[in-house]
Parts: sequence; C-alpha cells; structure tokens
Amino acid sequence: MKVGVVGLGAMGAGIAQLAVEAGLETVGREVTAELGEKARGRIDGFLKRKVEKGQIEAYDIGLLTTTTEVADLADCDVVIEAIVESLEPKQELFRELERVCRPDTVLATNTSALSVTEIASAISSAERVVGMHFFNPAPLMPLVEIVRAELSSDEAFETAYALGEKLGKHPIRCHDTPGFVVNRVLIPLLNDCVRVLDEARVSVEDLDAGMKHGAGWPMGPCELIDLVGTDVHVHASEALWAKLREPRMAAPPRLVAMANAGLLGRKTGRGFYTYES
Ligand code: 3HC
Repeated sequence: MKVGVVGLGAMGAGIAQLAVEAGLETVGREVTAELGEKARGRIDGFLKRKVEKGQIEAYDIGLLTTTTEVADLADCDVVIEAIVESLEPKQELFRELERVCRPDTVLATNTSALSVTEIASAISSAERVVGMHFFNPAPLMPLVEIVRAELSSDEAFETAYALGEKLGKHPIRCHDTPGFVVNRVLIPLLNDCVRVLDEARVSVEDLDAGMKHGAGWPMGPCELIDLVGTDVHVHASEALWAKLREPRMAAPPRLVAMANAGLLGRKTGRGFYTYES
C-alpha cells in the first residue's frame, strides 16, 4: 500500500512517520522543498531515537519521499490531508486530488472539527472521501477516528479503517457529526477548564496539577492546549459552536486573545507556559 500525506506540519509529519514505521511507501507533500526536507529530518530523528531506545529494531527512511507537487500523489492508495484547518483550501486541495489521483484512491481528511461531508462536497467522487482523525502527538496517541461522511462508500471506509490498524492505531468508527467523538467531549471540557481559571482564580500550574492529580489526566489542560495550539483549539471551538450553539463550546475570550496575540503554545514557544526551542 502506498500512502500520501499532504501537509507535513505537526500532524502530517506524525502521520507520515507512522506510515514509514509501518513499512509503507510514503509520499509527503509540502509547499516548499525546504519544509518537506525539514519534516523528513524530524521524522528521521524521532525514528532514530526509537531504535536507540529499543522500541523498534530498524526503519527505512528511504520509504519517505517529499515533494511540492500534488501530482506526485497520483498512484497512492490512500491520501491523507493534514493542511490548514479551513474549508476552502481543503476543498481546493480535494479538487486537485480528484483530478490527479487514480479513481480508486481513498481521500481522507485529518480535520479536527470541520465537516468531512462539506469537504467532500467539493468533488464529484465524494464516495471516496472519509475522515481519518489522528490525535496530537500522532505517533504517541493510540486513537484514530474513522469518520463516515454522508456519501462515503463502505469500501473507502473499510480501507481507511484497515490503514488505521496497519499504522498501529486503535481505530474507532463514527459518523460525521461536529467534533466526531473525542473533540465533541474534549473541546467543551477544555473550555470549562480555561473558564475555571478566572472563576476559581486558580493559577495555570495549580489547575494543571488539579486535573493531573485529581482526575488522572496524563497532562494538565493548559499544557494540553499549548500542545494542540491555542489557534487550533479556538478554531475547533468556533466550528463546534457554529454547528451546535452550546455555550460551553464557544471559545473563552482569554484563549481568543492568546491566539490573536500569537501565543499559540509550543509551536511559537509561548502559550500558557514558555518553552525553549
Ligand atoms: N515520535 C516519536 N517519539 C516522540 C514523538 C514523535 N513524534 N514526539 C515525542 N516523542 C517522544 C519524546 O521525545 C519522548 O522521548 P524521550 O523519552 O526519548 O525523550 C517520548 O516520546 C515520550 O515523551 P514524554 O516523556 O513527553 O511522554 P509522556 O509519557 O509524558 O507522554 C503524551 C506524552 C503521550 C503526549 C502524554 O502526555 C499524553 O497522553 N498527553 C495527552 C495528549 C492528548 O490528550 N492529546 C490529544 C489532544 S486533542 C487532539 O489532538 C485532537 C485535535 O483535533 C485537536
């Protein structure tokens, strides 16, 4: 099986890493050759470390090629899109993928909170579009949600499910509803956590300690939002709010201000916490 990944940011690079680890021929597409090479270097570094730690015996980075051309994804069996979380660019990309890929190529989106059905509506072969929603950091989080859009075919859906298994993930099946399964629950919950900062006048550190030591979370909510990115979290909150109108889904003003100020979390070095690069 040959896998294509479009967008080698944190999520796309993590997905490409999983494909290489699974021994699959992988093509990663980035907008510039330099970004592609950087992502390939990061993936190589993580895999090297896994070998050093004895977590895997070996890997072949030669399985991963990077390109700036969408046309180089033409003969992939599955292409996973992990570009910017915005409907129009995603729809434009799917139109291009429909033009260049084989008719039987499954086209998957890693969207966090957009509608897979709306993304698929941009193309005439919507039956081959499904959601494959990975969690951040993709190489470490075991789950992948396999999302059935209104017009997804059984064949495309099961191909995506089988790929999820091949990538070593625990796939779950769900339908295309706002936030799917996990984000439908997690996003309003994280928004509650941010609101409690002001309500209970608790510090960021104490809130994180509270949820880690009182609720068994592996990391605190503020650490988690920094990991996901305040921009990504605000965008997902707004998407859920727009669809479901539940007040808890609306992004807390504190987070919107952080995102607007460029305090995006780990990726910019500053969010709730400060990070060394
Ligand atoms: N590939 C391979 N290894 C990686 C890696 C990668 N891409 N990224 C990090 N690692 C390595 C680290 O370098 C570290 O290796 P080292 O021991 O050699 O330094 C190793 O993995 C483990 O790192 P940690 O010590 O940080 O591991 P922890 O045991 O603390 O676990 C965690 C980290 C898995 C992130 C854990 O804290 C956790 O489960 N946190 C919750 C994350 C979560 O909830 N994610 C979901 C977010 S929501 C989402 O993604 C949805 C989206 O739509 C918004």
